[in-house]
Amino acid sequence: MSFTVAIDGPAAAGKGTVARALADHFGFAYLDTGLLYRAVGRKVLDAKQPLTDTAFALKMAQELGESDLLRDDLRNMETATAASAVAAMGDVRKALVSFQKSFAKRDGGAVLDGRDIGTVICPDADVKLFVTASEEVRAERRYKELSAKGDDTSFEAVLAALKARDAQDAKRDVAPMVQADDAVLIDTSTMSISDALAAAVDVVSKTY
Ligand code: C5P
Repeated sequence: MSFTVAIDGPAAAGKGTVARALADHFGFAYLDTGLLYRAVGRKVLDAKQPLTDTAFALKMAQELGESDLLRDDLRNMETATAASAVAAMGDVRKALVSFQKSFAKRDGGAVLDGRDIGTVICPDADVKLFVTASEEVRAERRYKELSAKGDDTSFEAVLAALKARDAQDAKRDVAPMVQADDAVLIDTSTMSISDALAAAVDVVSKTY
């Protein structure tokens, strides 16, 4: 039997942490859909093609393989910005839909996180969460993460990149980031990871 949990929200809100922990808790599979767009963006950057070349980005999306998702350079800011650029292309999104939809329907339950999961990929999800936090808190978390990895950046640079990416994701014509009408909002600004997980488990337990 399938059971789908859709989690959306802006960059660095804690979606991934909550999604992974929720999947562990209930024994569900987990898909980080942002990784798909990051991998496509990375391939365009590597090929030194402009991030406006829709035909090339589409080809990269169609050719996406598992090894593309296992690279260790998908989490940096350059890749995140490229991901947001290719994610605004309707053709690229279409090429990635069926994989995400079938993942969501797999036996045993699935948690997917992204920007359009509750609105476009899984409008009939059993549970929808919209996980957010203030811009400052999100930028601080991402800054710490990047610094710990040895990325030489500043808080201001991270905040500016995060704001630009959120604006691009929220304002694009296709599948913009928006809270679904039936999604439960979890604001993690002042929550610890365990608080956020407890809140998410609580919501899922009401349905599952
Ligand atoms: O979640 P993450 O920060 O890894 O996503 C990277 C980018 O991929 C986002 O900024 C967004 O542009 C895009 N994305 C999307 N739809 C999703 C997941 C990610 O457009 N479902």
